Amino acid sequence: MCGIVGYIGPEGAAPILMDELSRLEYRGYDSAGIVTLDGDGLHLVKTRGKLQVLRDRLARDGEPKGNLGIGHTRWATHGAPSDVNAHPHLDDQGRVAVVHNGIIENYQSLRRELEKEGCVFRSQTDSEVVSQLLARRLEKCGDLLEALTSTMGRLRGAYALGVVAKACPGTLAAARKGSPLVVGLSDHGNYIASDIPALLPYTRKVYLLDEGEIALVYADHVEVYSEWGEPVEKKVYEVTWSVDAAERGGYKHFMLKEIFEQPRAIRDTLNPRLRDGRIHLEEAGLTDEYLAQVKRVVLIACGTASHASLVGRAAIEQLARVPVEWDVASEFRYRDPILSPDDLLVVVSQSGETADTLAALRLAKENGCKVLAITNVVGSTIAREADRVLYTWAGPEIAVASTKAYLTQLLCLYLVAIEMASAKGRLDAATYDRYIRELQTLSDKAQTVLTSTTAEQELAKRFCHSRDIFFIGRGLDYAAAMEASLKLKEISYIHSEAMASGELKHGTIALIEDGVPVVALSTQGAVAEKLHSNIRAVKARGAVVVCIAYGDSSVEDGVADYVLYIPRTDDLFAPLLSIIPAQLFAYYCAIERGYDPDKPRNLAKSVTVE
Ligand code: G6P
Repeated sequence: MCGIVGYIGPEGAAPILMDELSRLEYRGYDSAGIVTLDGDGLHLVKTRGKLQVLRDRLARDGEPKGNLGIGHTRWATHGAPSDVNAHPHLDDQGRVAVVHNGIIENYQSLRRELEKEGCVFRSQTDSEVVSQLLARRLEKCGDLLEALTSTMGRLRGAYALGVVAKACPGTLAAARKGSPLVVGLSDHGNYIASDIPALLPYTRKVYLLDEGEIALVYADHVEVYSEWGEPVEKKVYEVTWSVDAAERGGYKHFMLKEIFEQPRAIRDTLNPRLRDGRIHLEEAGLTDEYLAQVKRVVLIACGTASHASLVGRAAIEQLARVPVEWDVASEFRYRDPILSPDDLLVVVSQSGETADTLAALRLAKENGCKVLAITNVVGSTIAREADRVLYTWAGPEIAVASTKAYLTQLLCLYLVAIEMASAKGRLDAATYDRYIRELQTLSDKAQTVLTSTTAEQELAKRFCHSRDIFFIGRGLDYAAAMEASLKLKEISYIHSEAMASGELKHGTIALIEDGVPVVALSTQGAVAEKLHSNIRAVKARGAVVVCIAYGDSSVEDGVADYVLYIPRTDDLFAPLLSIIPAQLFAYYCAIERGYDPDKPRNLAKSVTVE
């Protein structure tokens, strides 16, 4: 998704902007650009393609001068990826430069209006209306803050903006409505960025801009205003992530690093919540008293987080016997859902910024529900707007394909399910203790799965040229199969579907022929026999079957062509381990096919537009 950076201070802006942009590459983009300002005016360089293309351009033509500038990586929404549609966008007289994340919904009517006034547009983007409108307002009033507030008054939609203006050579301006933006504070200049990782080498002190806020950033201080132009006092937020945590640390790709960080992430998420043999969720206001009276849970999320929520649904229903509704946020928000103030609405989001999930949260709050956010990013919009927050302490997740965030989301949902069941008197003490003890073994068991990746590498070599790969399972294995299938398709581009194995016979089995790989997740004892019949049915039609199963199970003998083993755990927790071989398989398939798993085509890490 688009990334914004900006700098003002004693140093030359261009190298800093390029470095900041490189730290946002993981978000996914198709073009990039920077603009700097000095006594000669605005210097714009932008191009379609990766940052390296921009770097080559700068090396060829020389770095633009100036101690103030903004930069952008664009993920096309309005207008194809092209040099002219890349950001920054200047107005037609080169007075103002703007970078924009988000979508301006009324850009067509604004564009028509401006064109009638003689304004000439160069790009097909929605963003260009902002620079054109702002330049005209600034020309009229001569005050950047007033020009920004009045421009924002005309914009509908979601945006984060970075602005430099020829008439204001000492000011970097930023504004936020619906898309995240932070201001970085330091003694050697100040910064703006859409994401904290861009700033980590420069500062840990940031202002998290709230909805509608405008920042006027100077080399030595920062002023923040409301969208009506009134001054706002901001608290400095100290970022605790280290630079190392946001860098590859010897691994070839962020995805691989993050897969291997999972044992640590499990410990970091569990340890603060397990004390004296009990689960403690009071930090999120989830006292036993509160949990005991919850009558219905609604779980909403997107992508991987929605797959974690599917496991959460099963866990909560199974243990606490509370009805759970589950939906993806983009459907939920438009289907006029039935909500009651007694519901506990849980939104799950790694980034805490996903536009659809945020909209679902707001809808639930309008309906009087209490919202619990399970998120990884402290200070994210979802964390700030929810009534209660349970953090997944996975550390920064950079790779687009989510791995450690998924595992820690599962853990948080397990903790809620077990504690809710206990608060409702539905778990006897012995079972409660058994769950706690088992949770404490999961980090080591995840480590065991990661001891060798040879089997996954071999299988990837064997199957990486397949046209389709199917993942099947029943119950919690089906939920995990959905995540396994998503991992594979998003980074290897092999077509993949996850099926509840009992459903195969109603259509998908028609696609099974000689040599088609089928990965069967086989951990759920209660439905093992049923699954094995389904496996036999696909084998009979020529499928090559890979099972993911407990190391001590022999039930797959003669059923599977290959087996990837995981240590035995309670079936309830199996998705947390069975996903790891699937993540590795997906990773190695991408490598075998020559794709960069950290930068999958068309995908973004955090989707802040609808
Ligand atoms: C994007 C990412 C996925 C992620 C989904 C939801 O599509 O590529 O990895 O699962 O958004 O993101 P969230 O930050 O809300 O968990």
